[in-house]
Amino acid sequence: MTAPSPPPTAASTMMPARVHGPELDQAAFACIAAIAHREAGLHISPGKSAMVRTRLARRLRALKLPDFETYCALVQSPAGGEELGAMISALTTNVSHFFREDHHFSILREKVLPGLVDKAKSRQRVRIWSAGCSNGQEPYSIAMTLREAGMPSDADLRILASDIDPMVVAHAQVGRYPETMMSGLPDPLRAKYFTADGDTPEPSWQVRPEIRRMIAFRILNLLRDWPMQGQFDAIFCRNVVIYFDADTQSRLWQRFADALEPGGWLFIGHSERISDAGLSVFESRGMTSYQRTGKSARGTAPTPTTLRD
Ligand SMILES: C[S@@+](CC[C@H](N)C(=O)[O-])C[C@H]1O[C@@H](n2cnc3c(N)ncnc32)[C@H](O)[C@@H]1O
Repeated sequence: MTAPSPPPTAASTMMPARVHGPELDQAAFACIAAIAHREAGLHISPGKSAMVRTRLARRLRALKLPDFETYCALVQSPAGGEELGAMISALTTNVSHFFREDHHFSILREKVLPGLVDKAKSRQRVRIWSAGCSNGQEPYSIAMTLREAGMPSDADLRILASDIDPMVVAHAQVGRYPETMMSGLPDPLRAKYFTADGDTPEPSWQVRPEIRRMIAFRILNLLRDWPMQGQFDAIFCRNVVIYFDADTQSRLWQRFADALEPGGWLFIGHSERISDAGLSVFESRGMTSYQRTGKSARGTAPTPTTLRD
């Protein structure tokens, strides 16, 4: 396997723009980078200072704050919880689209779902997690693939869709997309699983209730405790860990292994790699696709996944 390239840092996809307003000095940058690392595992190098300034300048304007020192004090205060979420949201990218990295959906269709459809037909539970689901195109793509594969409509099936950013989770839950966010969705699936919503200024598309009902939406920071008990048949965590440092990534691979059934599948983003240590619990099954090895990662018997509603 080729050695992975060093992870790009958060906020690396945006061109610096001319910013008016407060300067971001070294001390304030260090403060913001430390908070972003501690709270969300983000690795922001000093070279990204201009981009951090551009992105957070909007937050300062919205909150009418005079400088970044005041902003740092706010996000570290008990009253700053909500703004902390907005800060992490501003520093990460939420770009996604339907059926992104289509090879994962081919593997899901051809290698994973035949077994899961049998499992559902024999009245066993099926659980899939879209971890870092952004605006929802990923979990909805999974749900449509399951339906197309003949997953019974009365199956004990749940897709968990989670993200650290409350705004994208709210969007995902509503399931309404303007035309610009519909790329990647084949026309027959659009016709079958979406309705055109003509009441909005820009034409938009609403996912049908039978697809939305397959998914439980949650705000969840991957670095914190995971409230779900029990194990998943497959986890999609794509284009999320790319912003995390190597130690944070390694810990996450182990936790994903613990959260998967033996033989369960993990799909990661195109520029992400499981470290050598992580490969003791996963076997590579093609491009950025892995299967948990047979032995239990925790040495305990699997328990059913609990997802309320
Ligand atoms: C580029 S999007 C990926 C969306 C989707 N998985 C895909 O590949 O199209 C990255 C998402 O990761 C989320 N994220 C970043 N750090 C996170 C963390 N610590 N816990 C949970 N989600 C996080 C961001 O909010 C963002 O929505």
